[in-house]
Amino acid sequence: MTKILLLGDIHANYPALEAVIEYIQPDRFDWIVNTGDFTVYSTFPNETIQWFRERKRTISILGNTDRKILRILKGKKLKKPKKKEKRVMYFWTSEHLNPENITYLKSLPERTDFKVGAYRIGIFHGTLEDPDEELFPSALESRFQRLAKDSPYQVQIMGHSHVPYYKIVDGIHFINPGSVGRMFDGDPRTSFAILKISSEKMAVEHFRIPYAVDEVVKGLKEQKLPNIYVKMFRVGKKLN
Ligand SMILES: [Fe+2]
Repeated sequence: MTKILLLGDIHANYPALEAVIEYIQPDRFDWIVNTGDFTVYSTFPNETIQWFRERKRTISILGNTDRKILRILKGKKLKKPKKKEKRVMYFWTSEHLNPENITYLKSLPERTDFKVGAYRIGIFHGTLEDPDEELFPSALESRFQRLAKDSPYQVQIMGHSHVPYYKIVDGIHFINPGSVGRMFDGDPRTSFAILKISSEKMAVEHFRIPYAVDEVVKGLKEQKLPNIYVKMFRVGKKLN
């Protein structure tokens, strides 16, 4: 049996990642998949990236926040987000990333895939068709059918919507582990999933566990970052 830990949308929330690590003991896994958005909205982007950088058997892609950080670092203009408090978080992150972590981020693809037995597994931040698409479990069945049609991947792992789910449509397995570091559903606990694959079957289990929100709050306050994010991490909701 192959055991895969599914993480995503960590958003620089290293205290949440640490809680997951302690809870599941990552050495037990054959692979650790990260669907992107390492960065922005919390003050631990270096600790977060470094953890993946130093581990073997991780498979990571870039998310939209990471791509924007790389744009800023290239000296390009940031058109979106427009809201001032959001822009502050992007610029704070780009100013604080260390060179090794920037090099690592630059080395990552926007999508990737790998094989486990007979299964080809695709990893996307948004979807197979659009890295910025937020695919919610409530999306029309026809949208999932479209993504399943002619899919070279029997399993599609996605992030970006921050909503955990597992759906099988037309024989294709769609999995979103939810967000490790920035939940939107009013439950501030961290979210992740475990995927187990054997020759006969596939099993997905989702988890929600508490983490030290106070450490995130402390980091934001120390750096004098917008208060709206203190509230966001405390209530587990998207507030802007
Ligand atoms: Fe995200």
